[in-house]
Amino acid sequence: MTNMKERLIVALDVDTKDEVRRLVKMLEPYVGMFKVGLQLFTSLGPAIFELIQEAGGKVFVDLKLHDIPNTVAQASRVLTGYGVDMLNVHASGGLYMMEKAREAVEEEALAKGLVKPKLIAVTILTSLGEKDLEQIGLGTPQESVVRFAKLTKKAGLDGVVASPQETKLIRQACGNDFLTVTPGVRPLNSQAGDQKRITTPQEAIRAGSSYLVIGRPITAAVDPLAAVQQIIEEMEAGHVNSTGN
Ligand code: C5P
Repeated sequence: MTNMKERLIVALDVDTKDEVRRLVKMLEPYVGMFKVGLQLFTSLGPAIFELIQEAGGKVFVDLKLHDIPNTVAQASRVLTGYGVDMLNVHASGGLYMMEKAREAVEEEALAKGLVKPKLIAVTILTSLGEKDLEQIGLGTPQESVVRFAKLTKKAGLDGVVASPQETKLIRQACGNDFLTVTPGVRPLNSQAGDQKRITTPQEAIRAGSSYLVIGRPITAAVDPLAAVQQIIEEMEAGHVNSTGN
């Protein structure tokens, strides 16, 4: 996937329809997908998918599902029915939970004649550093991410969410066809905020990330379109010699 536009996902971490309309209208021609996360979904519900889709945007629904296998499978089925393009679960929900989610997504897409959305799993949140992981009884970010990525692949999912700092390790462990969707990306001269394991767009693409998820550096910018254009330029600079798919 050499087109940088397709590989940029904007995190719509806002909570009003007006903000969504403004951002989607302005950015849709220049980005690959829009991410609907907890803030937007709990504010406006699934109607937000249609609003984005009607404006020509693709939807990544980032609800990071994590519950017993049946509950996650049923929620994945419902989300698939909305015609979204990507959705996710937590890998720490276990192999069986991920397998049930995958089956539900496949069955629902087939039943409704929809293109099967990409189903990916969150490994370790990019806001967690080594100390945070120690507190919750996990090893280093690298060890934990690779373990979860391998489990995700075994469950037959399309890829994982991880920090771009771990993209190379994931590629080595799971191969080049396995998607790496990476938040924790900060363009040059922007604030890290609560993100800890971060890289620049150029570094993320060079490491082989399939998709970059970027929120506040775009949505909180005075000129979101200029921010997107700068990010795409940085991504293009990283594309030379990258291993991404
Ligand atoms: O504003 P920022 O660029 O930090 O937004 C990153 C987005 O990616 C947020 O919507 C956040 O929920 C999401 N995300 C993340 N780390 C993960 C998974 C998702 O930051 N591991």
